[in-house]
Order: sequence, then structure tokens, then C-alpha cells
Amino acid sequence: MLHGNGFLNHRGNGFASGGLPMLRLENVHKTYGRGAGQVQALRGVSIDVMPGEIFGIIGLSGAGKSTLIRCINLLERPQSGRVYIDGVDVTDFKGKALRTVRRHIGMVFQHFNLLTNRTALANVTFPMEIVGVPRQERERRALELLEFVGLRAKAHRYPAELSGGEKQRVGIARALATEPRILLCDEPTSALDPETTTSFLNLLKDINRRLGLTIVMVTHQMHVVRAVCGRVAVLDQGRVAELGTVSQVFDAPRTEAARRLVKEAAVGA
Ligand SMILES: Nc1ncnc2c1ncn2[C@@H]1O[C@H](COP(=O)(O)OP(=O)(O)OP(=O)(O)O)[C@@H](O)[C@H]1O
Ligand SMILES: [Mg+2]
Repeated sequence: MLHGNGFLNHRGNGFASGGLPMLRLENVHKTYGRGAGQVQALRGVSIDVMPGEIFGIIGLSGAGKSTLIRCINLLERPQSGRVYIDGVDVTDFKGKALRTVRRHIGMVFQHFNLLTNRTALANVTFPMEIVGVPRQERERRALELLEFVGLRAKAHRYPAELSGGEKQRVGIARALATEPRILLCDEPTSALDPETTTSFLNLLKDINRRLGLTIVMVTHQMHVVRAVCGRVAVLDQGRVAELGTVSQVFDAPRTEAARRLVKEAAVGA
């Protein structure tokens, strides 16, 4: 199975995590635009995510959640502050070093972002093609991953022939294809119905447990945070308003920003 041949076995791929955070954001500032139209999306965000954690990020629309995710995989460059992955300061990485880091960071999106003209299998092989994994090898791995997410039987279907939940499973398989150390999820369940959400979250927990994968998940669905996250940060206007275990933040919110979100959750429950 997945662990038997070393594939996806993160503990054996040369990283040594020790007591270090898998991800450290240090005083990250991100500003979009200039002059009058300038938006300060992140205003000094510091967060440590430990290896194997499922870490939630919540906050109102516009709080800076997606920006934060994009600063982690360096799709956006912070104006100041540092981003460390497994103890390595990657903030200024470029070229090959940047590509290597990105390979170790998987990404799952709200709207799946699958290539519509490729089958499920070919979507999963895609990131491996980019990094030059030989054809037979990448197909073998892709089938293994599709098996892992319960979609082996639909390997040759196109995205249009798959349900939302199935598409998101393909998205996960694709994100795992390059053996990431960190999986970033931006609203992964927002487009799924409640039942599909539950089965997706179970898959996420299984991945976290079996592969020891560190997961950072942005969501506006408080029940999702309760179901899978260990700790959670509340972002409010580009700042961390509150950070703690899910029960700390949900049962005894200390800030207005957290109280508002938690109240919303109670209404929605
Ligand atoms: N590329 C961009 N150019 C200019 N401003 C941007 C850009 N991306 C985001 N912003 C602004 O930065 C702020 C934070 O946006 P961000 O997308 O990070 O919020 P969010 O918390 O993910 O919101 P949502 O819950 O609606 O997805 C917002 O004011 C947004 O308008
Ligand atoms: Mg967003």
C-alpha cells in the first residue's frame, strides 16, 4: 500500500522536523496596490503550525485568509516578514529552489481547479509531468492515489462526469502527487453538500493520520473547524485576533472578532 514502497512516506524523504514548526509565519505584512487604493491585507501575522497539525484559519470575508494561504506557497510575496517551511527561510526563494518548495506544498481549492480536458488520472499525473516523473511511474502513482481517495474506478472519467465530492477527491489526489509536507486548503468544502463534506473531512483526517501530513485549512464553516482542526487562528482585518485550540476559541472567545464567528456558528448549527 501507500507506505509499503516509501511513496508518500514523509518521514523518510530527507526532512528532519525535530521540535520545529512545519510552518512559521513571522510578522508577515502584505499590501496590495499603491496610494489611495492600497489594501493592507495582512498586518503583521505570526503563526506557527506544528508537524502533523490540522490548523484552521477563520475570519470574515476580506480578513486576509486567502492572502495568507498565498503567502505560504509564495504565490504572493510578503512586503515584510518571513516564511519558514520546516525551519528553512523560504521567503526569498526563486527559480529552482522555489519550485522545490512549492512541490512540498499541496493546494486544494474551493472550485477544484481541475483541467477539464483531462481525465481524473491525467489531472493527478499532471504535477508529476511538470517535475519530470517518467510516464509509467507517474501513472502507477496516480492510480495508487486515486485508489487512496476511493476513486480508482473513475480514473478515466473527465471532471464534467464527476460529482463535486469526487472532483474534490481528485483535487486531493493531485495535491498529494508531489509528496507534499504541507497541504493548504482554501474553503475546500464550501461547494459540497453536508454529506459529501463529512466524507471529504473523513478523508482529510485519514490523510493527516496515515501520512502525518500537516494541513492548513481556511474555512468559513465553523462546523468544519470543529470536526477536524486541533488549533485555529481568527483573522480580523489582516491581524491574528485570537489563536488557540478549537475549544479555547469556540467555548471561550476572548475577542469580538471570535465571538462574532462563534455566534454565527451557533446560529448555523
Ligand atoms: N490581488 C489583489 N489585489 C488587490 N487587493 C486584493 C487582492 N487580493 C485580495 N485583495 C484584498 O485583500 C483583502 C484580503 O483579501 P483575501 O482574499 O485574502 O480575503 P479572504 O479572507 O480570503 O476573504 P473571503 O472569505 O471572501 O475569501 C481584501 O480587502 C481584498 O479585497
Ligand atoms: Mg478567500
